[in-house]
Amino acid sequence: MNYKNGAFKKQMELKLDYNNMMTEFVGEKEGFTPADFKENKKIAESAHKFVAENRGQGMMGWTELPYNQKEIVEDIIATAKDVKKKFDNFVVLGIGGSALGPISVFQALCHLRHNELPKSKRKFPKLYVEDNVDPERMAALLDVIDIKKTCFNVITKSGATSETMSQYLIIMDILKKALGKDAASHMIATTSEKKGNLIKIAKEEGLKTFYIPDGVGGRFSELCPVGLLPAAVVGIDIKALLAGAAHMDKICKNKNVTENPALVSALLEYMSIKKGKNISVMMPYADSLKYIADWYCQLWGESLGKAVDLDGNKVFVGQTPVKALGVTDQHSQVQLYREGPFDKVITIIGVEKFRTEVEISHGCDSIPDVSFLSGHTMNELINAERKATEYALTTANRLNYTILLPEVNAFTLGELLFMFELETAYCGAMLNIDTFNQPGVEGGKNATYALFGRKGYEKTKEEMDNAPKKKSEYIC
Ligand code: PA5
Repeated sequence: MNYKNGAFKKQMELKLDYNNMMTEFVGEKEGFTPADFKENKKIAESAHKFVAENRGQGMMGWTELPYNQKEIVEDIIATAKDVKKKFDNFVVLGIGGSALGPISVFQALCHLRHNELPKSKRKFPKLYVEDNVDPERMAALLDVIDIKKTCFNVITKSGATSETMSQYLIIMDILKKALGKDAASHMIATTSEKKGNLIKIAKEEGLKTFYIPDGVGGRFSELCPVGLLPAAVVGIDIKALLAGAAHMDKICKNKNVTENPALVSALLEYMSIKKGKNISVMMPYADSLKYIADWYCQLWGESLGKAVDLDGNKVFVGQTPVKALGVTDQHSQVQLYREGPFDKVITIIGVEKFRTEVEISHGCDSIPDVSFLSGHTMNELINAERKATEYALTTANRLNYTILLPEVNAFTLGELLFMFELETAYCGAMLNIDTFNQPGVEGGKNATYALFGRKGYEKTKEEMDNAPKKKSEYIC
């Protein structure tokens, strides 16, 4: 992939088509007009300015990841080579931002049945991302991997998350029992350099360690070692991924809202929120992008769902992100999207050129209602169904827009991830909230610590003990 070539970059640019957000298409009541853009021009400009002025600072360190990781990337590539040589499996232990990026990039860029391929075809280790503490899942993992041929990557920025650290304790114990001193060579830690417990443990145990930069929050961390190491282990071109992100960053330097895809989508969502559209549906029409919707849900939900604004006012803002998959969810969700409440914006992701073509075979010639499919390809069918859904939503006056990828590759995926990250930052600035904190998540984490008797959480435990007791009459 020649991602340094200007013509290639141009050819691989994403397109954002927001026709179906405009009054001409979805009607006056729902849609927007050029006048709405004009009216909100200042808001868009100041969001753009906020991001431009704050990039690389505070919790906006993620904006520099496409540029400032040269040595780290080389280390990651060398480590991935070593992992490939020594191990059959690579298991990520992490949750939230420390898991959703690796899952979505793996699904997008590897063979859709990577782990099931025979080793000769797979060429790279199998990848498992364990983002839950379901005991059955842990037992199931241990049933299918040979621990002696497995490398684990424990990822946690805070170095304290109960889910991840409990997984670490279980696996390290198994490794030590099975391998003795060799256990450390089966575990890589990715964490904050200065904060948390994992860094202390990693030093004590002598683990190979990668760092999550201070200004990179969990949900903005896919393009740092959190995501880059698992991606490199399964053979993904991480330099192309970063090049795609840098290209999108360059496009989004443009402060003209209608020429900046991240800014225009942020503004459209912002104006929709103001109109009461409290649900944001992310619907990729490609199995490879299925988990991008999961990653987006965390990014959008955790970043924009906030109780207070930057001036301390209670605002309770945010859109509930919903994931859907085209065409699968046409037969599950689209009925609601087309006929239910007018409370959604639907973002469709389309792919122009799939990596393979499957022809629909001839047969059933005497039944025209079936045989009309023959001779076409599944590629044509999935894209026809995407256009059909866009049409069906639009004719029912439902706000929707489409992001079109020329194809799914490391470069275009880098563009897409970075576009969503910038869009989130812009939209947060428009809403005047702190996009980069997550007090709601911390609330749940702290309550778990209290329930498990962690030192320092006695007050939370007391509060929980004094909370109203559940009544048996409300349980049946
Ligand atoms: O975006 C965030 O910061 C969170 O959702 C975290 O990713 C998640 O809670 C996991 O945290 P950590 O990486 O500290 O284990």
